[in-house]
Amino acid sequence: MADIFTPWKIKDLEIPNRLVRSATWEGMALDDGTPTIDTVNFTADLAEGGVGLIIAGYSFITPLGRGLPKQSGMHIDAMVGPQTRITDAVHKLGGLIAAQIVHAGGQTRADWIGGQPEGPSAIVHPAFKEQVRELSKSDIARIVEQFAEAALRARAAGYDAVELHGAHGYLISQFLSPNINLRGDEYGGSLANRARFCLEVYQAVRRALGPRYPVFIKLNSEDGLEGGFTPAEAVEVAKMLDQAGIDAIEVSGGVPAAGKLGSARPVVKPEDEGYFFNNALAIKAAVKCPVMVVGGWRGKARVEAALDKVDAVSMSRPFIRQPHLAKLWKSGQSDQATCISCGQCFGVGMKGGVACGQELKKAAGK
Ligand SMILES: Cc1cc2nc3c(=O)[nH]c(=O)nc-3n(C[C@H](O)[C@H](O)[C@H](O)COP(=O)(O)O)c2cc1C
Repeated sequence: MADIFTPWKIKDLEIPNRLVRSATWEGMALDDGTPTIDTVNFTADLAEGGVGLIIAGYSFITPLGRGLPKQSGMHIDAMVGPQTRITDAVHKLGGLIAAQIVHAGGQTRADWIGGQPEGPSAIVHPAFKEQVRELSKSDIARIVEQFAEAALRARAAGYDAVELHGAHGYLISQFLSPNINLRGDEYGGSLANRARFCLEVYQAVRRALGPRYPVFIKLNSEDGLEGGFTPAEAVEVAKMLDQAGIDAIEVSGGVPAAGKLGSARPVVKPEDEGYFFNNALAIKAAVKCPVMVVGGWRGKARVEAALDKVDAVSMSRPFIRQPHLAKLWKSGQSDQATCISCGQCFGVGMKGGVACGQELKKAAGK
């Protein structure tokens, strides 16, 4: 059985163990996207807790691509200073941190972004119910460039790697999904065409950052919707990215309209754990780069068993409740996350910063 605490590598980045904190929006930034001291402390606590690699909560590459309120930004050079406070705090504690950069596309609200949501096609978004404006080819070229500029800022801010958000129904994932991307040009239709935007973003980021800097992607492995992006298509896109030189793939899945088949599912029984594992195995068999898998991992034994077949396991909600989970598992003090996957962390986040709803109830004596 593989050991969670065996080091591994993404390109030259030496990661001390196989536990990754999957990106988690903090809901702690100022309205202009500036990360705050709360963002710094929330992230530093994870570094103290011994997780191998932290993937920071997603940062938007342009205000029109903001996915949620109080989200951090990587859209202008003025963000580099405040973002550096996060990486400095993590590095001082001996941790490693990747930035995650995103354009939310049509999966957002006009009042959050101060304009009409933009996406591959002019549809009413299935979950957000707002009219999306279809991106022109020059808009697409602009956004590809904005991804590259944001990646350069992330590196300037001291991040150890950059992850592209290619999952959960955001813009890259929208282009991949045949039920959202209805375009008749070279960005729509065949899988090669739907994957074009994703590959252009990756190539632009790679050109900007050069061959040695680690660049990876969180990729949807299925949408969980009739007529959406499928596991078989995800394998093909993973192969394209692998051949193009991506340094790792974090396998996820789900879109908000998929409900219980979304990205952050309820995990009630041990059998519910690792709900994208089979998709990750299919991707792992098709690529050379390291593969991480996220989605419902809660128990040390199941994580260890998964590590026989994939390179790393990532988690989000368990680290909200127990930022020091890696240390607890390493010391043998526990072998099970206490997260009950209730998802209240998200609602708490909307009210003033992500925290565990169960822990807040306990603290309030409820
Ligand atoms: C409060 C909250 C914020 C999240 N923010 C992000 C994010 O910024 N980027 C991202 O890729 N996924 C985000 N996710 C999804 C998680 O990274 C993860 O894919 C999902 O929660 C399943 O993993 P888990 O069962 O370990 O929580 C978020 C999830 C939650 C609950």
